[in-house]
Amino acid sequence: MAPRKIIIDTDPGQDDAVAILLALASPDEIDVLGVTAVAGNVPLPLTQKNARIVCELAGKPDTLVFAGCDAPLVRKLVTAEHVHGKTGLDGPQMSDPTMPLQDQHAVEYIIETLRAHDAGTITLCPLGPLTNIATAFKSAPDIIEKVQEIVLMGGAYFQVGNITPAAEFNIYVDPEAAKIVFDSGVPIVVMPLDVTHKALTTRARVEAFRALGTKVGDMVAAWTDFFERFDKEKYGSEGAPLHDPCVIAYLIQPDLFTGRHVNVEIETVSELTLGMTVADWWRVTDRAPNAMFMGDLDSDGFFALLADRLARL
Ligand code: RIB
Ligand code: CA
Repeated sequence: MAPRKIIIDTDPGQDDAVAILLALASPDEIDVLGVTAVAGNVPLPLTQKNARIVCELAGKPDTLVFAGCDAPLVRKLVTAEHVHGKTGLDGPQMSDPTMPLQDQHAVEYIIETLRAHDAGTITLCPLGPLTNIATAFKSAPDIIEKVQEIVLMGGAYFQVGNITPAAEFNIYVDPEAAKIVFDSGVPIVVMPLDVTHKALTTRARVEAFRALGTKVGDMVAAWTDFFERFDKEKYGSEGAPLHDPCVIAYLIQPDLFTGRHVNVEIETVSELTLGMTVADWWRVTDRAPNAMFMGDLDSDGFFALLADRLARL
């Protein structure tokens, strides 16, 4: 089977970095056409730089990396340095990237790429706020029907919020963008906190990364050591949830995940619940299902896949 063509839209972020490494380590299954950076965990100048650092770490300096939107559609940017550190990739020492940033705006790249390929052949993989995707859909509505699928990390139902009591960060930062994407009619697979909170980096799993004995293994272990302190303190969990790699793992091994095809609406009005993903998990409304909302994960299988693939870099 030919590898799946994807565009990764991202706000690195240590977990985004692991997702990008996993994708670049899996060329038999995934053809990364481009990486588009968006403002999120840290401002855009850092997310576009971090995306290039990660592509170079993967030994793929020819990857096309683009800078996209530096702020949400209508709101002020909210960032997450408290989780990811000032650089967004705190943990290990890292040198600046030498690979180039593409001149073209990420949104133009997304539009141009979807227009240039046959319908149903490109999957969008958003790992951050949905600003770039929504802006592309608004500027070029003709591309919406060309998207094969959107597989995104965002939202929460049983796990409720991680940035407010009701909302998960990626959706909260740009709820208007999320509403455009969830209302678009494109087939969507959602990796919410309900599933990513089961992808916890235990000590043994982090040591398995370190035991790879490679620069990639050491970097991933160091990022995880830094990134996990926030979640361990807040949730008393044994480690950090590797949110974004769930998106890429789904493309490689979908049977690691289980979920339900339900209706998901985005709260964009109430300040109290802004950015909440209102998932009709129990199908109590007659609202049409618009997303495959994941609820469970084979976490041992997930980490076995991750360690196996990272060992290839
Ligand atoms: O809420 C977790 C999500 O927000 C992850 O994608 C993390 O990288 C941040 O973007
Ligand atoms: Ca992210």
